[in-house]
Amino acid sequence: MTETDPPPLASQRVKHVTGENLLQPGGQRLGVEKIALAEAFDSITEHWSPHLAGAVNDHAIKLAKTSGEFVWHQHNNTDELFLVQSGTLRLEFRERENVTLTAGEFIVVPQGTEHRPVAEPEAELLLVEPAETVNTGDTQSEQTQEELQRLEWGDRPQPNITITITITTCRVGRQEWGR
Ligand code: NI
Repeated sequence: MTETDPPPLASQRVKHVTGENLLQPGGQRLGVEKIALAEAFDSITEHWSPHLAGAVNDHAIKLAKTSGEFVWHQHNNTDELFLVQSGTLRLEFRERENVTLTAGEFIVVPQGTEHRPVAEPEAELLLVEPAETVNTGDTQSEQTQEELQRLEWGDRPQPNITITITITTCRVGRQEWGR
């Protein structure tokens, strides 16, 4: 990199790490097999624990079962897509009207927007965001999941690894990469 190059964006900086995370053991891309959402959600037992289901370029497709209130948080460097597969999810915001989503509806929460998901009483969610995005963003709480689980069900091969998330990658400001 020369003196005149602009500093890389944080999202570019973590791209390589994300790409590695999105490979199955053996190097195959995630998500090239058909996934039935109902079956996939049946395999998830915990609430608020995102499971990695696939990849689109450098973004992960995650599935999560949710119940009740989550913590207030924001993601400083990434947008976050919520698609409701079943149930009802209310997204609460500090600076705009709350939004209630039911099955078949989605919303994108822009980066830097404080939000709190509330499932009443339960909701099954598909999320699209970078793999390393921590579920509680800039907030540390009991609900923080620093390890992303892979989907495991039926006769699928069950790789016995989990993905360790580096929480600091979410907090890196663009300027810190400059020279
Ligand atoms: Ni979030």
